[in-house]
Amino acid sequence: MHSFMKSSTFALLGLAGLSQAAIVYHNWDLTTQTVSPDGFNRTAALVNGQYPGPLLAFNKGDVGMIQVNNQLTDPNIRRSTSIHWHGIFEHRNAENDGPSFVTQCPIAPNSEIKAEHSDDPDDPNKDLYDVDDETTVITLSDWFHETAVDLEAAWFAGGPEPVPDSGLINSAGRFVNGTLVPLTRINVEQGKRYRLRLISLSSMGQFNVSIQNHRMTIIEVEGNPVEPYVVDFLPLLPAQRYSVVITANQSVDNYWISAQQTVLGATTSPTNPNFNGSDTFAVLHYAGASSGEPTSSQIFASGPVQFNESLLVPLDNSGPFGGSGPADYTYNFTFNTNASNGDAWFINGIQYQSPKLPTLLNILSHANMLLISATFGTNEHTIILPPNATIEVALIGGRGHPFHLHIHPVNLDSGHAFDVIQSASGGGPNRVNPPRRDTVSSGGTTENPVRIRFITDNPDAGLAVVFAEDPAGIRNGPNSVRPDPQWEQLCYIYNQLPPALQ
Ligand SMILES: *[C@@H]1O[C@H](CO)[C@@H](O)[C@H](O)[C@H]1NC(C)=O
Ligand SMILES: *[C@@H]1O[C@H](CO)[C@@H](O)[C@H](O)[C@H]1NC(C)=O
Ligand SMILES: *[C@@H]1O[C@H](CO)[C@@H](O)[C@H](O)[C@H]1NC(C)=O
Ligand SMILES: *[C@@H]1O[C@H](CO)[C@@H](O)[C@H](O)[C@H]1NC(C)=O
Ligand SMILES: *[C@@H]1O[C@H](CO)[C@@H](O)[C@H](O)[C@H]1NC(C)=O
Ligand SMILES: *[C@@H]1O[C@H](CO)[C@@H](O)[C@H](O)[C@H]1NC(C)=O
Ligand SMILES: *[C@@H]1O[C@H](CO)[C@@H](O)[C@H](O)[C@H]1NC(C)=O
Ligand SMILES: *[C@@H]1O[C@H](CO)[C@@H](O)[C@H](O)[C@H]1NC(C)=O
Ligand SMILES: *[C@@H]1O[C@H](CO)[C@@H](O)[C@H](O)[C@H]1NC(C)=O
Repeated sequence: MHSFMKSSTFALLGLAGLSQAAIVYHNWDLTTQTVSPDGFNRTAALVNGQYPGPLLAFNKGDVGMIQVNNQLTDPNIRRSTSIHWHGIFEHRNAENDGPSFVTQCPIAPNSEIKAEHSDDPDDPNKDLYDVDDETTVITLSDWFHETAVDLEAAWFAGGPEPVPDSGLINSAGRFVNGTLVPLTRINVEQGKRYRLRLISLSSMGQFNVSIQNHRMTIIEVEGNPVEPYVVDFLPLLPAQRYSVVITANQSVDNYWISAQQTVLGATTSPTNPNFNGSDTFAVLHYAGASSGEPTSSQIFASGPVQFNESLLVPLDNSGPFGGSGPADYTYNFTFNTNASNGDAWFINGIQYQSPKLPTLLNILSHANMLLISATFGTNEHTIILPPNATIEVALIGGRGHPFHLHIHPVNLDSGHAFDVIQSASGGGPNRVNPPRRDTVSSGGTTENPVRIRFITDNPDAGLAVVFAEDPAGIRNGPNSVRPDPQWEQLCYIYNQLPPALQ
């Protein structure tokens, strides 16, 4: 749960449209280069030399073919890597979903893999905005001056948990006493309505987004359209995404876009004086206004209308997965940390550790054997789920823990959106029209846990706790996976690498 994957976090985003389906080819070269988005030079792993990575624009039904070439060369950045397609359902394509040691071995240096992806939602809220393009994508990142390898080594040697140096909006941010890097500018024209796609690329920082003088209307949450919901500010936990509409109906001027960042529950850090979570801004620039920053005083998350996750109403009001009755299977996941063990996280007393043999390979190699949970090691924490069953999971704890004051998001499975039956933001269970998303805050108590619900309709092996969903269906039948020879070579190559290249 706590690996610092900054160096290999890449954004993928589909811009939905309504034209003919097509196969869209992209070539991604992964390289290590010096960048300084907040004015501090460091090496980072980049896709095609850019941070944030390139935008992939798809129409609904398109198939994306992405050739990934690993040319990472910096010894302080993991040399082997993988690309995770967060939020893309990957039906019959679990082998290309990316999580190392769950669905594949990492991609070794100087090697490549071709991956196929498809999916994307339509937008029933389309008449609510005029502009939705690459200029209205807003990414939020916590940014570290040191690489993940170095930070993790210092932390595991007994140091404090690493805290970022700055927060970035798209490609720019600032740290205490650093250079005043020009802020990212989002250009608008008076009178138009804009769909802003807010994406957290964060590994631990949480962001609270607000836009001076402009309320935001949430219309989509992680690929799921919702009834328009107007808020003054909006929290994003790591990996969460929203689309919000703003109307550029204020006087021609520059306005603050604020993304106040909290880490371990605070906007400052006793262990990293560079960090000032209150200093994450971009500029909403009206055509015709002067260039430069707004002259008014800075704004932060405030205003009467606070976002409340339990008030999201899905537009697809077909109700929760499996109907409103009890789920076929229920699980309690209780989160705990162990201070005498590097603050490691435990779920039901088990610390997840990746196996040498990726879960998916293990499943595929058991073609003629009965697959039971004992097939997997204890620390693989793998739970086998039958096909076509409704699963409800209660998440208990994980928030307000004495060692960790921040909320730990749990991306349970890339292959699913789930229903948020009970939200960390309060309210009782909702089994009538719960919101659907794929990244949720844990937290809650034994009496009032966070509850999520999904149906096992996508044979897959997910994350954190691994759910091996319908192992027989993964191997055979209309929904089975079809790995190609390149994928099958990944472990063979990886296992022969010296540790420095892994
Ligand atoms: C950062 O790197 C650039 C070239 O990559 C160099 O010109 C600049 O002086 C460096 N800045 C610092 C503060 O080292
Ligand atoms: C966002 O701001 C509100 C109001 O200050 C606060 O209650 C909430 O905890 C903040 N959320 C995050 C994720 O920082
Ligand atoms: C601007 O647009 C918002 C959202 O449509 C609306 O609530 C608000 O009243 C408008 N303000 C002005 C000054 O027209
Ligand atoms: C920033 O500059 C001020 C004034 O010189 C100094 O007191 C403070 O320690 C500096 N902070 C950091 C993190 O460099
Ligand atoms: C942090 O940023 C805020 C907003 O720009 C600013 O008011 C405050 O002085 C900054 N704090 C430090 C220590 O630089
Ligand atoms: C989950 O925890 C609740 C509250 O302690 C308990 O009533 C319930 O039986 C547990 N469910 C399972 C499946 O263990
Ligand atoms: C916590 O970690 C220590 C050191 O690894 C171990 O001895 C102990 O059993 C762990 N405690 C729990 C509750 O898992
Ligand atoms: C899944 O289960 C439902 C309810 O039991 C049943 O109606 C449906 O036919 C099943 N679907 C598949 C693909 O087995
Ligand atoms: C969020 O809304 C629910 C009603 O769905 C309410 O019970 C809860 O108190 C609200 N949470 C906050 C923090 O206001």
